[in-house]
Amino acid sequence: MLPKAILAIAALAFSPANALWPIPQKISTGDSVLFIDQAVKVTYNGQLILPIGYTPPPSSHFDSKQIVQGAVSRTLQSIFQTNYVPWKLHPRNSNFEPRVAPQNRIQSIAIQQTGKDTTQTFKPRAGDVDESYTLTVSKNGQVNISAKSSTGVLHALETFSQLFYKHSAGPFYYTTQAPVSIQDAPKYPHRGIMLDLARNYQTIDDIKRTIDAMSWNKLNRLHLHITDSQSWPLVIPSLPKLSQAGAYHPSLVYTPSDLASIFQYGVSRGVEVITEIDMPGHIGVIELAYSDLIVAYEQMPYQDYCAEPPCGAFSMNNTKVYSFLDTLFNDLLPRISPYSSYFHTGGDELNVNDSELDPRIRSNDTAVLQPLLQKFINFAHSKVRAAGLSPFVWEEMVTTWNLTLGSDTVVQSWLGGDAVKNLAESGHKVIDTDYNFYYLDCGRGQWVNFPPGNSYTTYYPFNDWCQPTKNWRLIYSHDPATGVSASAAKNILGGEVAVWSEMIDAANLDNIIWPRASAAGEVWWSGNADPATGQQRSQLDVVPRLNEFRERLLARGVSAMPIQMTYCTQLNATACTLFT
Ligand SMILES: *[C@@H]1O[C@H](CO)[C@@H](O)[C@H](O)[C@H]1NC(C)=O
Ligand SMILES: *[C@@H]1O[C@H](CO)[C@@H](O)[C@H](O)[C@H]1NC(C)=O
Ligand SMILES: *[C@@H]1O[C@H](CO)[C@@H](O)[C@H](O)[C@H]1NC(C)=O
Ligand SMILES: *[C@@H]1O[C@H](CO)[C@@H](O)[C@H](O)[C@H]1NC(C)=O
Ligand SMILES: *[C@@H]1O[C@H](CO)[C@@H](O)[C@H](O)[C@H]1NC(C)=O
Ligand SMILES: *[C@@H]1O[C@H](CO)[C@@H](O)[C@H](O)[C@H]1NC(C)=O
Repeated sequence: MLPKAILAIAALAFSPANALWPIPQKISTGDSVLFIDQAVKVTYNGQLILPIGYTPPPSSHFDSKQIVQGAVSRTLQSIFQTNYVPWKLHPRNSNFEPRVAPQNRIQSIAIQQTGKDTTQTFKPRAGDVDESYTLTVSKNGQVNISAKSSTGVLHALETFSQLFYKHSAGPFYYTTQAPVSIQDAPKYPHRGIMLDLARNYQTIDDIKRTIDAMSWNKLNRLHLHITDSQSWPLVIPSLPKLSQAGAYHPSLVYTPSDLASIFQYGVSRGVEVITEIDMPGHIGVIELAYSDLIVAYEQMPYQDYCAEPPCGAFSMNNTKVYSFLDTLFNDLLPRISPYSSYFHTGGDELNVNDSELDPRIRSNDTAVLQPLLQKFINFAHSKVRAAGLSPFVWEEMVTTWNLTLGSDTVVQSWLGGDAVKNLAESGHKVIDTDYNFYYLDCGRGQWVNFPPGNSYTTYYPFNDWCQPTKNWRLIYSHDPATGVSASAAKNILGGEVAVWSEMIDAANLDNIIWPRASAAGEVWWSGNADPATGQQRSQLDVVPRLNEFRERLLARGVSAMPIQMTYCTQLNATACTLFT
């Protein structure tokens, strides 16, 4: 065994300092080794917290202590049960581990929540919750966490868990970075993933595992694109035929209790779930369940009526559609409002030609359709507001259709260019989902078939519409507010990466999302600039941390893909840097 002083130097040279993801806004660390006791005592505002194994009881009422208790339980589980020996982050066959010195260890963690949670803490609108926290670990093992909200406590606990590794000599867990002092808070309040549950069904376990991984990344909004023209997996008890006829299979549904369990799972991890029923386009599947509500269902050639088959949109001058929506919203929205403050009414890619086929309209003239659409959205949003929720829409409702929306409405921009900037400058609250950076499904080729004949020459090499792949470096380069004036930037609430699921299901979900969503997560949390220089953070600082975080994702059961070969992770970042 090497003496400890030498080991500390070795740790300095080889282990990535501050290997936390996302990197905190303010952090200082030392190079002392500290072990953590498996019987560590955790107190919350002076009260002892139950150890591993606690899960908050299912409920639509939330209690700060139960939420914190659940988080402490998961934190200890991460440190002691799903941790890893970081051999992959050190030179091969090197002796990188500290001497086991259990006399020097963490035995207690004191959590102070300095503010009171309200019902809005658990279903926040952007800006409702103070997510900041401080975390200190003294050289002799005293741990203090302080936060205004329980959400801040959750973030602090996650940061804390990322300080520790498993020791190969046995059940020993250590950090090499004591003392630690962190003051942290997010740059943007809305940090999300949009997950498509309709093109391919995503299992409830997959959704929940995604929520877990989100919370480790300090991502806090899961937007479920739950229906589309291809399938309607959402069970609506007052409109039972929707899922009976519209789900891909009777087993591939989300019942009201499934939905509640997803919402509750999210709330207890600081992740607010936002439900989207996309309308008035992207909804053809209703034709299978209820007649006379949909126009242009499965219309061909599909390119003239929608972006991908099958087409189908609401008939927009039809009182039956209004009474259908009334029933749908009266059923669904009261089941959402205990857990979320938002409901997304979609609104992307409405094709004017659909209404040309509508016997009640017979026009594809935007000037004719715009007032009908305005009336339709006014009705939908009045229902959303009556349920205590704020509406969300895709950007075309503003950028294509010039609709007048309430000031509470959040506009989700995906078309890129200056859309985010323009929307923010014109006073809209905006979420950035620019497809050039944030579409995780892009760049993997076409799912649509090409007809027999000369397709191999005509369509070669079968790229998809939004190629190339949005690799993590590309994602990391993008900050939604870059180039936007400070006053307009206040309207940019954050971003969402999008997971459109034509070629994504349980077999590849994890490695499509992770660790690329992590890259966006860090930028939305602490920006992509180095605080010392104001310049974009060097990839040499980012890569070792992301390599390490990917190992943590794997250890915790998420099949994140590697971003480098082991040759690179075992050497320093310089060894795998482009030589120019
Ligand atoms: C932790 O909190 C206790 C009680 O407030 C305080 O006495 C102690 O100095 C704090 N320790 C650190 C390392 O901040
Ligand atoms: C509407 O259909 C016509 C063909 O009738 C086509 O040329 C046009 O591109 C279509 N419009 C849209 C927006 O798809
Ligand atoms: C909508 O339907 C009404 C009759 O129900 C009709 O008078 C009106 O012209 C229609 N609007 C459009 C734009 O077609
Ligand atoms: C409207 O329909 C006409 C006739 O089908 C078509 O020529 C025209 O391109 C359509 N307009 C748009 C904006 O798609
Ligand atoms: C959009 O709507 C607003 C208010 O209804 C109107 O003042 C403006 O001229 C419209 N813009 C366009 C491009 O149609
Ligand atoms: C990083 O690795 C390269 C290549 O193996 C080596 O030349 C260099 O000295 C290393 N730098 C540090 C700081 O260890």
